[in-house]
Formats: sequence, C-alpha cells, structure tokens
Amino acid sequence: MGGDSQTAAPTRAEVLSWLSLKGADREALYRRADAVRRERKGDEVFIRGIIEFSNVCANDCLYCGIRRSNGKVRRYRLPADEILGVARQMTGWRQTTVVLQSGEAPSAAGDRELGEVIRRIKAETGLAVTVSVGNRPREVYARWRECGMDRYLLRFETSDPALFARLHPDCTLDERLRCLRDLRDLGVQAGGGFMIGVPGETRETLADNLLLCRELELDMVGIGPFIPHPDTPLGAEPNAYADDPDMFFVALAALRLVHPRAHIPATTAFDAVFPGTGRNLALKRGANVFMPNNTPGERRGDYLLYPNKPCVDENAGQCAACVVMRLRSLGRTIGEGPGHAEG
Ligand code: 5AD
Ligand code: FES
Repeated sequence: MGGDSQTAAPTRAEVLSWLSLKGADREALYRRADAVRRERKGDEVFIRGIIEFSNVCANDCLYCGIRRSNGKVRRYRLPADEILGVARQMTGWRQTTVVLQSGEAPSAAGDRELGEVIRRIKAETGLAVTVSVGNRPREVYARWRECGMDRYLLRFETSDPALFARLHPDCTLDERLRCLRDLRDLGVQAGGGFMIGVPGETRETLADNLLLCRELELDMVGIGPFIPHPDTPLGAEPNAYADDPDMFFVALAALRLVHPRAHIPATTAFDAVFPGTGRNLALKRGANVFMPNNTPGERRGDYLLYPNKPCVDENAGQCAACVVMRLRSLGRTIGEGPGHAEG
C-alpha cells in the first residue's frame, strides 16, 4: 500500500479510534488535521469553479435528486458556446481550473461534443480542465485526454461492495474502480471520494472508505455528507450520523491524516448541513480547495442532487466574489498556478 512516500499508512484500528473521538479530543483531531494541511499544502486554497453543464442522467442511484426516475426534474444541457462563455470569465475571478460536471449520460454525440468543449477551453483559456461525468470505457477517457483533459472526478461513494450495489442499480464498485485505474494509467489526475453517512454505513465502512482513498493513491478526494432527497427512494432515510453531524468534520479531518498529500475540497454539501459556515469550517479542519458554483443562475434550481443546496439564488459572479471574501476572512491565500497534484 502506498499513496504517500512521506508517511506510513495508519492502521484501521487507529482510524477507527479517531472516528470515535469526542469533545476536546475531537477538537484536537481538527487541529492536527489543520496542522498537517498547512505543512503539506500551505495556506493557499485553489479555487476550482464547477459548471454543471447538464442534468440529464441515465442512472438511477438511489440517493440522487437528478436520477433518471425523478420526473420532476426539468432536464437541460448547456450549449458549448455558453460553457465557453463562463470559462472565459473565470481567470478574472482568480479561478485556474474549470470543472465540467453532469449526470451520467453516455452517448457518442454527447461525448464527442464534450471533447470539443475541452479542446476549445484549452485553446482559448489557460485553464486546467477537470471532467466529472461518470463511468466511461477507457477509449472515451483516452480521447478526452487527447483533447487536453487534465483531471477527472469520480467518487467511489462507498468501499463496501454490497452497499455500493444496493445504492447503484446501474453499476458495480469494481467497474467504478476500473474507471479510476484507467484514468490514472492514461496520466489523468484522478479524484475520488465518498458520501459520509449513507444509510447502511457503519464506522467500519467509513474507516475503510478513508483507507481506500489512500490505497488508490487519489490525487483529489471529495467527501461530503449524504443528505436525503425527498424525491428519491432514500428520501426518508436519515444520515447514519444524523444524531452527531460533527462526524462529517471528523471524517474530513481523518481524511487529511490518512492521506496527507491529497487535494481535499471543502465540498458544497457541508454548507447544506451547516448553512454559511460548513465550507469555512471544512477549510479549517483539513480542506485546501474550494469549488464555487459557476453554473448560470437560471439552471441552478435544476441541479439539486440533494435539498438545501446553497447558492441556488446566486449567480456565478456572486459566488466568485463570495469565495474570495471567505478565504480572506480565514486568513488564507488564493492558489495561483493550476494546482496540480504532488507526484
Ligand atoms: N447527498 C449528498 N451527496 C450526494 N451526491 C449525490 N446525491 C447526493 C445526496 N443526496 C454526491 C455523490 C456524487 C456527487 C456528484 O454528489 O457523491 O458523486
Ligand atoms: Fe455561492 Fe457564497 S459561495 S454565495
């Protein structure tokens, strides 16, 4: 097992002991994670703007608000020129990476069009391009790589294969891990991660999720609380840590300790659970990346993976200004380069 040449992997028992800390010991864990973040990543925070360019999805993941069976969703796909228009504004907002995210809807025409969008963004802006559109055959990833794709985000959601199968009628954990392996082989920086507290998860599952991030040598790891969406089969299932939501930060701090070299975003779902403060606290407890929403304002209400998503009434320019203020108030600086992962 590798993932970090500078530190030994913690044992499962050690990770489990972190996950059961309470009170002052929990606060000490947060401080330790913050110190490791500062030592390994510095005070720079990289801002990666997300464009949710389509909510069309062929899958029926039990937790997700834009699953194909949710007939209440107004489906959209942004035209290439509109995506380019947002990307061109981003350097003025001090954002060096664009994240192109959508539902998982593989199609020859759509995948070709996305390749062209990647190519145009690389040619017309200096941005690094991250793609997050789900499982694909290796050849498709290879084509996007040739178009200039730098990174890919694909969460494995849970390390428990049986739980994964229950949550994902259209996919297996093995297939998901195959995608991540292919991406790494192709020289694409790979990001993974999981939801914290999906129904059926135990603390042991959570410990294994954290260890898997390191074992897979992920360059980026996004984790965030599971939030029940009323229009999904899991709408009435509470988060496994509903009686102790600070566990979401415990998981984040533990992630920084398990996998110190990873880029770890303060994910949007933290703000859904702790409005206005969640992402700031995440940045103080291990995170070093912020991913503001760059989706055009009029589409935001149609990309609700979970309820209470923040910034639905804002537009991209407002979020861009907000994140700069947030970082300043935390005494952090803004990452200037592309912010590629350490080797
Ligand atoms: N609650 C929290 N996170 C969710 N995601 C999807 N649905 C939910 C939900 N109900 C997360 C998944 C996915 C990412 C894009 O959003 O982890 O990989
Ligand atoms: Fe969107 Fe603050 S990040 S308004």
